[in-house]
Amino acid sequence: AKVLVLHGPNLNLLGKREKQVYGQTSLTEINRRLISMGREWGLDVECFQSNIEGELINQIHGAESRFDYIIFNPGAYTHYSYALRDAIASVDVPVIEVHLSNIHAREAFRHTSVTAPVCRGQIVGFGPLSYELALSAVRQWSQT
Ligand code: DQA
Repeated sequence: AKVLVLHGPNLNLLGKREKQVYGQTSLTEINRRLISMGREWGLDVECFQSNIEGELINQIHGAESRFDYIIFNPGAYTHYSYALRDAIASVDVPVIEVHLSNIHAREAFRHTSVTAPVCRGQIVGFGPLSYELALSAVRQWSQT
């Protein structure tokens, strides 16, 4: 199966930004690990990051013809982007929402995800492992 890993705004700064919340691991390291896990599991993993809402929307639209699953960390857009929510709802590709931090244990504005209701599920709070757990779900789905 083909898997698109999508990272939203500010995630390019992982490893530098708010380390006490998001940890030391860079986005490049996360992506490398996902690509190599994917290789072991027979999954073709492609990664894309953007700070621009419209670019993320375009990736979701484009994914329909190219990918079987999307693993998506929408960053702060999670909490208010109806446009991203509608993009997810508009395509026939299952999306797994992931967050490094436990958004439910943080500021009140992070407790709401407007995107999660149109996703297959949400994995939060496990740092980079959140992405790996999502990839593991994809592995199991694609075997059945
Ligand atoms: C995040 C959580 C969001 O609230 C925040 O805006 C981020 C990162 C996470 O992965 O924990 O940018 O999506």
